[in-house]
Amino acid sequence: MEQTEVVKPETLDDLIKVLHKIFESDTINIEEVQNIVEAYESKPQEWMKFAKFDQYRYTRNLVDEGNGKFNLMILCWGEGHGSSIHDHTDSHCFMKLLQGQLKETLFEWPDRKSHGDMVQKSQRILLENQCAYINDSIGLHRVENVSHTECAASLHLYSPPFQYCQTFDQRTGHKNTVKMTFWSRFGEKTPFETAVSQENN
Ligand SMILES: [Fe+2]
Repeated sequence: MEQTEVVKPETLDDLIKVLHKIFESDTINIEEVQNIVEAYESKPQEWMKFAKFDQYRYTRNLVDEGNGKFNLMILCWGEGHGSSIHDHTDSHCFMKLLQGQLKETLFEWPDRKSHGDMVQKSQRILLENQCAYINDSIGLHRVENVSHTECAASLHLYSPPFQYCQTFDQRTGHKNTVKMTFWSRFGEKTPFETAVSQENN
C-alpha cells in the first residue's frame, strides 16, 4: 500500500504552494487535501490581512485563485452570523477553522415530492484547525457562528471554482440560485457595487 505523506505546511504561503502543486493533477485525493489543510497550524498574523469583518453578516474574502483550479478564501463570521442552507455546485468544498468555532448542520436534498421542513442529518461543532469536507453527494449544509462573544474565521477551498450556488428554505425546501461575491480580494476591499452579496457558501 502506498502511503500518503503529509508534509506539514509551516505557513499559509507554504500551504498555498502545496495546494497549487496538488491541484495541478486532474484527480484529487480528498483525504490528502484535508490532511494537509488540517496540518497547517493557524497563525493569525499570516492571514489577518485577508480577514475583513462586517458588522451585519459574514464576509467572503478571496485569498488565492489557484491557477484557475480552485478558489481559496477566508470567511469572517461575527457573533451570531450564519449562512443559509446551500449546495456546492458540484465542487469540492474544504473548510478549515482558523479561529473560533463553527456549527455545521447537514441536511438531505429535498426531493420533488417533499413539502415542509427539510430533513436534518447531523450536526457538529468544528474546532480550531479542523478541516471539514462536503460536496453535493454528501448533502447540503448550514454553517453558523453560534457564539455571542467570539468571532470566527475559516479558510475555504472550492474546486473547481464557482460563482453561483443554490440556497434552500429550511421550512419549505424551496430553492433559489444566488450569485456569490467577494467582500475583499487579495486583501483589498471590493468596491461597493460588486460587494453587495446576496448569500452564501
Ligand atoms: Fe458550504
